[in-house]
Amino acid sequence: MNALTHSPAADPNAVAIRPATVAIVGATGAVGIELIKCLEASTVPTGRLRLFASRRSAGKCLPFRGSMVVVESLEEASFDGVDIAFFSAGATISRRYAPIARDAGALVIDNSSAFRMDPDIPLVVPEANGPALSRHAGIIANPNCVAAIACVALAPLHQRWSIRRLSMVTYQAISGAGASAMAEMEEATAAALAGEAHTPRVMPHPTAFNLFSHNADVDPETGYNGEEDKVIAETRRILDLPRLPIGITCIRVPVLRAHSIAVTVRFDDHVTPAAVRACLDGAPGVRLVDDRAGNHFPMPVEATGQDDVLVGRIRTDSGDPSGRSIAMFLSGDQLLKGAALNAVQIAEAVWA
Ligand code: A2P
Repeated sequence: MNALTHSPAADPNAVAIRPATVAIVGATGAVGIELIKCLEASTVPTGRLRLFASRRSAGKCLPFRGSMVVVESLEEASFDGVDIAFFSAGATISRRYAPIARDAGALVIDNSSAFRMDPDIPLVVPEANGPALSRHAGIIANPNCVAAIACVALAPLHQRWSIRRLSMVTYQAISGAGASAMAEMEEATAAALAGEAHTPRVMPHPTAFNLFSHNADVDPETGYNGEEDKVIAETRRILDLPRLPIGITCIRVPVLRAHSIAVTVRFDDHVTPAAVRACLDGAPGVRLVDDRAGNHFPMPVEATGQDDVLVGRIRTDSGDPSGRSIAMFLSGDQLLKGAALNAVQIAEAVWA
């Protein structure tokens, strides 16, 4: 256990009394880079930052608060003296190293899917289920990007009216597949504009001027892919609605880093669009972009780089004559609220 008076098992609400040593595993990745930037802007008292990636990246330097930090190769001994460890290097790395980091005394905030459905590990979007953080025992799971973005808008609605059914179609950015996929989309787009052929290596299908069903594996029996299964399970868990009926279709679109979601939500009772708008206006993490006269609604280019989830196109679902269903459209930065920002907000909530 390090000198910080943080003992995850004994006192989950411990207060930092000196600057924390913070580690980022997967620091060179798309989310890792954003974690560094979010930490710079956060209230987490980062005294020393340690960056870890694969051996390939050892020796690279990344900027943090005006200095360059050298990237180290991840080893089992990497967590000695680390107070907070963010993991964003995939589920295999998290399964192996997160328990090591926790046992070394670090508070682990894991961005992978490794622990999200472990009932002993909180899965948290602070705006939606922040109190669940008090139950952590050293590891906290950061949700799937679609679930995180959706729950920012859904939680206040559920608290007010009780959600009974949910239907979502996603328009997911390439950033969700990592930095190499983003680079591939830029190359593929440049090639297409130059009239040159481009063969995808990272994504299974062409990313330029195209869209395709999410690249996660498809269950041959249900026809749902792994992304859809994750969003269903995690949304239920975050909203604490274990049997909520959820239909979903996840699509990759040629957008670099902000996800959009068409959501139809059915409530217990009749709810008007005006009431939904009033409920979401000022809700934590939400910004209304709902200008019917100007035909201006959430767009990924406007969500990119923003902390808030943009919410608009709020209207009565014409497919449900009961008047109990509302349709809306969301855009949120996949790398921020969908990943790095949410993780840093968790750290702020536990350590502030
Ligand atoms: P590296 O850049 O050295 O490969 P993304 O999701 O954007 O693809 O990023 C994945 C992150 O996970 C990168 O920082 C990558 O480092 C890191 N990573 C991949 N494999 C390992 C590994 N075996 N040990 C530590 N970090 C890893």
